[in-house]
Amino acid sequence: MKKFKLNNGTEIPSIGVGVFRVEEAIIAQEMVETALAIGYRHIDTAMIYGNEEAVGKAIKNSGVPREEIFLTTKLWNADQRSGKVQEALEESLRKLKTEYVDLYLVHWPVAETYVKVWSKMEAIYKSGKAKAIGVSNYQTHHIEDLLKQAEVVPAVNQFESYPYFTQEPLIKYCKEKGIYPEAWGPLGAGQTDVLANPVIVDIAKKHSKNPAQIIIRWDVQRGVIVIPKSVHKERLIENLTVMDFELTDEEMKLIDHLNKNQRLGSNPDSFNF
Ligand SMILES: NC(=O)c1ccc[n+]([C@@H]2O[C@H](COP(=O)([O-])OP(=O)(O)OC[C@H]3O[C@@H](n4cnc5c(N)ncnc54)[C@H](OP(=O)(O)O)[C@@H]3O)[C@@H](O)[C@H]2O)c1
Repeated sequence: MKKFKLNNGTEIPSIGVGVFRVEEAIIAQEMVETALAIGYRHIDTAMIYGNEEAVGKAIKNSGVPREEIFLTTKLWNADQRSGKVQEALEESLRKLKTEYVDLYLVHWPVAETYVKVWSKMEAIYKSGKAKAIGVSNYQTHHIEDLLKQAEVVPAVNQFESYPYFTQEPLIKYCKEKGIYPEAWGPLGAGQTDVLANPVIVDIAKKHSKNPAQIIIRWDVQRGVIVIPKSVHKERLIENLTVMDFELTDEEMKLIDHLNKNQRLGSNPDSFNF
């Protein structure tokens, strides 16, 4: 598995498995156990997904040493608003049955607190309970504000990105600042026809791969961490099997050009949760 190096030297597997909308504990646990058995070493969860306990159990059951797994969780907005950042992390660690997370992200830029929260994240980083800290759903202007006060530059910004919403300007900006971009909803979150797009289907045929594999490979090649979610074993395997081929520059551009700024999730400047 190809790894990317974050700005503090920590290495992150370029592909992880996301567990959003896998609320049922038994399914989440089985999914993560399967993912770890297949070879995933990077799991993306969040307090608000309600499955940290299941993820923790799966990690314990898997027999994979904790230090071999890159584990991300996220600070939920209510805890950001209340300022109970340390407490929220402790609760996540308890549920995840671990002493530390590899990456702790501020889940959304809550208007009143997205800058203020960062010093608390920095304290967590210094305590060693998060090996890296970062943000999620931050736009360029949020990061600009944060960097004016930050001692620690966020290691990662995780945001929505897929071929109809490539987010090239934000990716370019993050890279210039040493912040690794990470794509959520990389396959269109089951809400678009992107996996049936003729351009992607055509490229897939040429490489004897499927459309999901083409998109995941595109992300890895454009230097974006990617965390596709699937509850199906076969798909989990497919989504990880993208290191045995390469997209040409022309194919990369064809996918880049599918962009139509089609956002599927909430807008970070106007979300209401
Ligand atoms: N930071 C944030 O605010 C934020 C927001 C949203 C998501 N995320 C993270 O990003 C992760 C991924 O995003 P997402 O779950 O929204 O969407 P996604 O990974 O783009 O898409 C998941 C959908 O694609 C299907 N799928 C997966 N692999 C496939 C394949 N090989 N072929 C065909 N279909 C396939 C899945 O179905 P099945 O499961 O039925 O296979 C599911 O319906 C989340 O799980 C979460 O960890 C973060």
